[in-house]
Amino acid sequence: MIHDLWYKNAVIYCLHVGTFMDTNGDGIGDFQGLMRRLDYLAGLGITCLWLMPFQRSPNRDDGYDVSDHYTVDPRYGSLGDFVAFTHAAEQRGLRVIIDLVVNHTSDQHPWFQDARRSASSPFRSWYVWSRRKPPRADEGVVFPGVQKTTWTWDERARAYYFHRFYDFQPDLDTANPEVQEEIRKIVGFWLELGVSGFRVDAVPFVIATKGAGVKPVEQYGMLRDLREFLQWRSRDAILLAEANVLPRTDLEYFGDDGDRMHMMFNFQVNQHLFYALAASDTRPLVKALEATRDRPGTAQWGVFLRNHDELDLGRLKPEQRERVFREFAPDPDMQLYERGIRRRLAPMLSGDRRRLELAYSLLFTLPGTPVIRYGDELGMGDDLRLPERNCARTPMQWSTLPNAGFSRAARTALPVIAEGPFQFQRVNAADQRRDPESLLNWTERIIRMRKECPEIAWGDFTVLPTQPEVLALRYDWRNNAMLVLHNLSGKPASVRLRARDVGDDRLVSLFTADHSSARKGHHEIELDPYAYRWYRVGGLDYILRRRSW
Ligand code: NOJ
Ligand code: CA
Repeated sequence: MIHDLWYKNAVIYCLHVGTFMDTNGDGIGDFQGLMRRLDYLAGLGITCLWLMPFQRSPNRDDGYDVSDHYTVDPRYGSLGDFVAFTHAAEQRGLRVIIDLVVNHTSDQHPWFQDARRSASSPFRSWYVWSRRKPPRADEGVVFPGVQKTTWTWDERARAYYFHRFYDFQPDLDTANPEVQEEIRKIVGFWLELGVSGFRVDAVPFVIATKGAGVKPVEQYGMLRDLREFLQWRSRDAILLAEANVLPRTDLEYFGDDGDRMHMMFNFQVNQHLFYALAASDTRPLVKALEATRDRPGTAQWGVFLRNHDELDLGRLKPEQRERVFREFAPDPDMQLYERGIRRRLAPMLSGDRRRLELAYSLLFTLPGTPVIRYGDELGMGDDLRLPERNCARTPMQWSTLPNAGFSRAARTALPVIAEGPFQFQRVNAADQRRDPESLLNWTERIIRMRKECPEIAWGDFTVLPTQPEVLALRYDWRNNAMLVLHNLSGKPASVRLRARDVGDDRLVSLFTADHSSARKGHHEIELDPYAYRWYRVGGLDYILRRRSW
């Protein structure tokens, strides 16, 4: 299956095997279960699966604490199951990307266990040590409020070790050539087993210089080396970077010539999008779109709403952040790490269908490749009684059967949501499949339409001038053009656009039949509260003129 730049116009669906479908009744999802659900996923129309870490792990950070990079954790199945799964995915035309977690390992990893045993261990230099507690060791923690320091004393090693994240996640010394060699081996291993690439965890930390008293400086050349190796082994595999960085460094990650990361999550747009939804003000979002406009032609943004972590609002101005908290997470228990929101999307938007559709329509029309989180196609909720980010990681809600049809165990590893407006008795895939108007079927339709709009994936965008509560984006690509409108406010909006800016006197509405014809050089369009419109620029004969990508 070779497709040039397939990721440019993909729809990615992210899930954790452990909370998707359990077949052997132990309360934990497994690869066999995921395989049984591949037809559901293919039917939804997604084109690529992103699996969160499933390698062997003590599971203290939902698998981001790997203790063996070359196995499937026995809870989820075997390597045999994994290969059967990647094969079955390929049969359905679905690609699979997986997490590459190499900034750190679990402290239970045999490398770390050996490294702490003695200073002469061959693995000692794979980690980052200091005899004394380095100055400013308590600065730069990633999980403030939970994590106290980045250097922890190890009695066995009689030294401090560095950990950017939790203390059970010692950082690898990624500057060590032996570690780099091992990272390549891990990449090569999973490529052989059928994956189409990696979501690379914590990239800015992977490539930063590390050590006591060392100022972290990103070594961008490492990204090129990784890319080169990846592409030597697999021509169409990709790297999708998790790097929450300022727009001015984006090109360092993509590489000026597109020779580093194929994709990056657009955190800048993500945070400003939530501000726009909270304040009905698109102006900061437009700035974020402009600031992240530049990228090499072969690169692509990953656009997302919520992910498995907290919604990080750290890049907003304090008053903007407060505004988002006020609208979407007024209770301090909904907030996390002094910067974010730990809720799922549907509860944040009070389950309001109009606002959910608006948010999703934005996800599917902002520049980039949309990344959906499992369960969001149903409008799943969260369980705030679970600690930290676990509240938004509950099992997939398949049906009204016990445990939401996820498992026949008496108890599941993470509880299913069985109370409140988002309980599985009310929100589940089986019921929504029978209802043509359900969010699930709506999502299937919008994915289908998105795939027919390659301009969004490949084209250039222009922000057309309108009132601040409305976002008007035009996309142009190979003589095709689209216009998308979003009214972010709870009030109706009359939008007036110059036909010259739009590009034509005629606009064909793709989801509704209310097309627009310009009068006296202007399109006048009435938008209901939270309404969205997707238009083809031009007349109804656009299909005849349209070129395929
Ligand atoms: C980012 C991941 O998204 C998050 O879940 C994890 O805790 C950290 N990296 C550490 O691996
Ligand atoms: Ca199981």
